[in-house]
Amino acid sequence: TRVVTTYRLQEMKSRGEKIAMLTAYDYSMARIVDSAGVDVVLVGDSAANVMAGYETTVPMSLEHMIYHARSVTRAVKRALVVVDMPFGTYQGNSKEALASAVRIMKESEADAIKLEGGEEILESVQRILCAGIPVMGHLGLTPQSIHKYGTYSVRAKEEAEARKLIRDAHLLEAVGCFGIVLEKIPATLGAQVASELKIPLIGIGAGNGVDGQVLVIHDMLGINNEFSPRFLRRYADLYSVMTDGVSRYVSDVKSGDFPNEKEQY
Ligand code: KIV
Ligand code: NA
Repeated sequence: TRVVTTYRLQEMKSRGEKIAMLTAYDYSMARIVDSAGVDVVLVGDSAANVMAGYETTVPMSLEHMIYHARSVTRAVKRALVVVDMPFGTYQGNSKEALASAVRIMKESEADAIKLEGGEEILESVQRILCAGIPVMGHLGLTPQSIHKYGTYSVRAKEEAEARKLIRDAHLLEAVGCFGIVLEKIPATLGAQVASELKIPLIGIGAGNGVDGQVLVIHDMLGINNEFSPRFLRRYADLYSVMTDGVSRYVSDVKSGDFPNEKEQY
C-alpha cells in the first residue's frame, strides 16, 4: 500500500484538511503529479478523451484502463491510486463487475476503483466492497451516460434530481464507499452533501464547500486547449510551451543548427 490510504483521507475530512486529486495516465506524468504532493491520483477513463482522442468515454476498454493504471502505479509512491472502471464493465451484472474490479486490482496494483452511478449500480458496489476492494462513487455529471442525457451541462439543478443525488450519496456511504466524486453540480448542493456525509466528497465543478478537488491534468496544465468550462482553472499553458519547443527544434534541424559540435561524437 501507498502512504495515503482511504483511512488517511477520512482523517483529512474530519480535520477539515482539503484533499487534492488529479488524473494521470502514464508513468512520466504520474511521477510529476505524485512528487508535487497530490493526495489521490485518478487513472480516469478521461484517458479516452485526452490520450486516445475519442469524443466520449464510452469506447474505453478494460484492457486499456489496466495498461494506463499499470503505467501510473509504477511511478506513484505516496498518493492513493484510484482507477476508473470503464463503461460496460460493471453496470449489468454484479459478478461481472467484481471480475472486472479484481482484474484491475491484480493486474495494475492500484489501491481502489471508481464507478459512476448510485442506486442503479449498488449491487455491483456491494459485491466489489465485499471482496475487500475500496470503492469510490461518482455522482452528478456521469460522462459514461452521456448518450442518455445528450449534453455535458450542469446536473441536479432541479429539485427531483438533487434529491436523488443526495439519496444516492447516502446509499454509497451506507454500503461502505470511502469517498465520492461530485461532478458539475450547484455549489450549494455540493456543500450540503459534504456536510451530511462522513466520507470525503471530491468535487469537479461542485464548488468550494466539498472536501477536495479533482481536475483532468491535460486541462489544468493547458496541454488540452480545446476545453474551457467555467470550473476549470489553468495553471500552465503547456500547449504553447510544447508547440514552441517543437517548432524551434524543427527550425534548428532544417537550418542545420542542431546538432552542434558539442552535441555529436
Ligand atoms: O475520468 C476522469 O477524469 C474523472 C474525473 C473527471 C473525476 O472521472
Ligand atoms: Na471518469
